[in-house]
Amino acid sequence: MTERRAIIIDTDPGQDDALAILLALASPEFDVLGITAVAGNVPLPLTQTNVRKVCELAGRTDVRVFAGASRPLVRDLVTAEYVHGKTGLDGPELSEPVMELQAQHGVDFIVETVRERASGEVTLCTLGPLTNIALALNRAPDIAPKIREIVMMGGGFFEGGNTTPAAEFNIYVDPHAAAALFHSGVPIVMIPLDCTHKALTTRARIDAMRAKGTKVTDAAAALIDFFERFDEDKYGTDGGPLHDPCVIAWLLRPDLFSGRDCNVEIEIGSELTMGMTVVDWWGVTDRPKNAHVIRDIDSDGFFALLTDRIARL
Ligand code: BDR
Ligand code: CA
Repeated sequence: MTERRAIIIDTDPGQDDALAILLALASPEFDVLGITAVAGNVPLPLTQTNVRKVCELAGRTDVRVFAGASRPLVRDLVTAEYVHGKTGLDGPELSEPVMELQAQHGVDFIVETVRERASGEVTLCTLGPLTNIALALNRAPDIAPKIREIVMMGGGFFEGGNTTPAAEFNIYVDPHAAAALFHSGVPIVMIPLDCTHKALTTRARIDAMRAKGTKVTDAAAALIDFFERFDEDKYGTDGGPLHDPCVIAWLLRPDLFSGRDCNVEIEIGSELTMGMTVVDWWGVTDRPKNAHVIRDIDSDGFFALLTDRIARL
């Protein structure tokens, strides 16, 4: 096999974050250097606990887990228990984790790891609000040119927002962090709602997952069952969008996705459209292209990959 790709996962689990972590841990293509938790779907004490629950479910107690920021840079924390449940991982019975949380702060871990690795080695996979990454870039601007790329789930343009009419949750929660990232010069792959709303957890896809009959696929199906009820009601679809695993799947199989290079700016001035990702999809400005924006996905291929991989855990 070619050399494994070094990644740090920054996350706020969240059922779909959990599926993304499982997909990464099931994939030999990755060297998961560490997982940093951030406040988002639920507060930080729960997100860092949830990361460890997921690592234990995967049988990967060797993975280092760090707690990062407990609140956004400027605004008050907004959480989403109404989607993810009280724990953030409602659905299956997952036991309290016994593996330890690392003592080092997640932001320090990101800075130190990028600094000690060769230039262009570390990829950051972000599944939640971008607070930890913005803090790392602010504290250590020297790491920006060393980061290979940031692959993020966040934003929405043609689909609009899922938290306000204009804004997607991850960007809405910390728009100032997102704005800093899009001006950092780090290569960004942005996977917005325009893509993830096509990755629907239909009944047939969950049944195929459950049919694998492993402890992990059973837990994954139970996570999806809980998570999708909210979006099924909201969108009137068979299944809900499975956002965060798209980030990991893009790294494994970019051929399953399509998009284009665009300028993306983040709204931080207007309360009405706070956190909107203004994507210049049609190239109507001469603003610099600062992100590769994904719009389409082969959703059958994506679910086949996800199910096949997590069944191996
Ligand atoms: C994003 O927000 C969270 O609720 C999900 O985990 C995902 O990262 C989707 O808008
Ligand atoms: Ca998330």
